[in-house]
Amino acid sequence: MHRFRVTHHASIGSTNDEARRLAAEGAPHGTVIHADEQTAGRGRLTHTWYSPPGNLYLTVLLRTGLPASRCAELSFVTALAVADTVEALLPKRIHAMLKWPNDVLVNGGKIAGILLEQVEDATIIGIGLNVLHAPANLAYTATTLVAHGGIASVDSARDILLDRLARHVDLWMEQGFPPIREQWLARTYPIGAAIRANAGGQAFKGAFAGLDSDGALLLDTGGERRRIVAGEVSVV
Ligand code: BTN
Repeated sequence: MHRFRVTHHASIGSTNDEARRLAAEGAPHGTVIHADEQTAGRGRLTHTWYSPPGNLYLTVLLRTGLPASRCAELSFVTALAVADTVEALLPKRIHAMLKWPNDVLVNGGKIAGILLEQVEDATIIGIGLNVLHAPANLAYTATTLVAHGGIASVDSARDILLDRLARHVDLWMEQGFPPIREQWLARTYPIGAAIRANAGGQAFKGAFAGLDSDGALLLDTGGERRRIVAGEVSVV
């Protein structure tokens, strides 16, 4: 069993904003905010996150005692936990795939997103999982658990996710990033896949060359190896 303490809200602006507020008040490690809907859900970069009732919106606050640079690894830890959750709720033949830095895809559609923020020594991990609803008209395709024959219970998704997250966080605390990196690489595009990365206003096309020891994306572009630390990736 996980050791999280969950506070539930019927409606909230953003569970990440609430967690940030609680972090500033000194909320303990393991605090979780769960909301049925968000009125101001936030995505990565400047995106909003579509948050009607029927999906899972959750933020976990951790105080790992590790420096912020290490805490960034938690976005990969979380992506593995979300991928396991998705697979536990879908028919056995359907797999979840990971896309750098922390998207979880099913059949090419984004089913979940992760927004990691650091507030002093607290790490705030926001997770949105599309159970019933996916936004339309985006630059990418989004999908849901239900569209793939999955289980439609938000509460069971929450319980499984917290259980998987606790297990992966324990593994990371005990053994560091290497086993997480290895598991993450096993669930993303193959090494050598042609991808495009948009970073710092520039687009780079190249061959996927793996993850650096700190989670940066490695891209081989015409004889040069680039490290991408922030940005978006698509398969060419
Ligand atoms: C992404 O852009 O892929 C990240 C999306 C993160 C959405 C979740 S939903 C719960 C938490 N609260 C927010 O406002 N955002 C995150």
